This record gives sequence, C-alpha cells and structure tokens, in this order.
Amino acid sequence: MIVESPFDLANHEVYRVWREVKLENHPRSLGDLVVEVGDPRHLTPAEHQAILDRCRRANMAIYASPFTGEDKDIPRLMGRQFGLVHLDGNWLADEDGISSLEVAEASETRKDFIPYTTRAIRWHTDGYYNPPARRIWAMVLHCVRDAAQGGDNALMDHEMAYLLLRDENPEFIRALMAPDAMTIPARDDENGVARAAEAGPVFLVNPETGALHMRYTARTRSIKWKSDDATKAAVAALERLLASDSPYIFRGRLSPGMGLLCNNVLHDRSGFNDEPARPRLLYRARYLDWLDTRG
Ligand SMILES: [Fe+2]
Repeated sequence: MIVESPFDLANHEVYRVWREVKLENHPRSLGDLVVEVGDPRHLTPAEHQAILDRCRRANMAIYASPFTGEDKDIPRLMGRQFGLVHLDGNWLADEDGISSLEVAEASETRKDFIPYTTRAIRWHTDGYYNPPARRIWAMVLHCVRDAAQGGDNALMDHEMAYLLLRDENPEFIRALMAPDAMTIPARDDENGVARAAEAGPVFLVNPETGALHMRYTARTRSIKWKSDDATKAAVAALERLLASDSPYIFRGRLSPGMGLLCNNVLHDRSGFNDEPARPRLLYRARYLDWLDTRG
C-alpha cells in the first residue's frame, strides 16, 4: 500500500516535491529520449541503464538499432530485459501475442480497425477499453519498415499530462479520477456481446506499485463521458493540452530498427502513404506488467 502517493490530491507536500523533481528531470526533446544500441535483444549494461534512465524521467525511451529485419524477438526480448513478460493477447494479435501493425487486405477483419489502415489515430493510451484485470501498463512498438510518407507519432508522458492539468486546476484531476468518468460502451458482434461496457477513471494509481495509469482516447465515437460540468471541463482541458504546442509533446517517426519502450504513454499517429513494395510494418507488444521506474 502506497501511503504517500504524489497522485493523491490530498498530499500537497508530496506532490510539490515530486512535481519539482519531475519538471527538473523531464526530457525537453525527442532526441533526449533516443538511446543508440548495438543489439536490442542483448543490451549492454550501459545501454540498459541509459534506457531505464529515460523511462524514469519520462516513462518512455526510444532505442535506435541497426536491426531492420522482421524479427519479433526484438520487441519480445527488449521488453523482457525490463521485466515485461506478460503479453496481452488481444484477439487481433498474432498467436504469439505481438501484433503486426500493417495495412490489412480489404477481405480481413482487421481492416475494420484503425491501426490496420493508413488513417490517422487520435490521442490515446493503449487498451483504454480493457477491463481492470487486463490493464496495459507497458508497451513496445518496434519499427521494421516505416511508411513512404507520414505515420509519425506524437508522444506525451501521462505523468506530465497529470502534472500540467493539476497545476491548472486540481478539480480536473478529481473529475478524471472518478471511477465513472469514462465509459466504453459494450461492443456487439454477430454472436452477441463481444465486449462488456467498461466504466472507469482516466487516471488511476496501482496501490501496490504506486504507478500512475491513464485510460484515454480522443475518439468521440464508442466512448461516453460522464455528463456533469466537472468532467466536461476536465476533458476539455486535456483536449486543449494535447492540441497545444506544449514542450512536453514530442513528435517524430520511428525509422527501421527503432522502437519505443514505454509505460503506455499518451500517443497519436498521423495518417500515412505506403509504398506497395515496402509497406509499413510495426510490431506492437502490450504488457500487463509495469516497467518499474522506482529507485
Ligand atoms: Fe496506440
């Protein structure tokens, strides 16, 4: 049980100290997040330390490697080196639990889901629709081939989003931590209910680790916000923040051999154009484990 969480609105002093450290240490550019590695499957102690250091400061790191082939061991072993072993096998993931994000053929079921199209994806965290037992605490996104044009990501540490919103108005945080702030309606398929409705907070804290988790999507379809004024104001403030030129929003594109390792930070994706002979391919591994940034 974490007694003194900085994410508890009642803990002013703990928050004040945490906030100061966070602002002082947070990276200021995408380049600050990048760590060059020789072999992402077998990091040297110095490479491991450098990646962990970025994750401690920003809940994310980007590794850059010369490994540009189709090899799912890269994301799998990258994750494992940071204690990430329990993959969330969503039903569109390949059998090994790692999804191959590529443009799906018109005949495939995957085509109905935006990650498998060339379309832009708005700000979100992964698995925001998952039930509590399957929260996505961490993620690896590894680039095998980038798009001919576009397919960039914007990234924001969700702890920074928390901090900036709390600075603006602690009532935003109170509304976003309400257990009924955001509801994902049930999804039906031809067999009945494929997924039950899932109500939950936007920000929540794991009582065992003290980690902050964020459930969010900027989508307006397939999501229902609590309809009181406090929630509306908080969601509007978050939307403003994510649409702003905040120095804590980083934009860039993963090149082949590069990957993002993170504690499920906020991210989006721009639309892209594929070159048919060399279509964009990213591997995505989602974990039920948290990348431990304590210590
Ligand atoms: Fe995502």
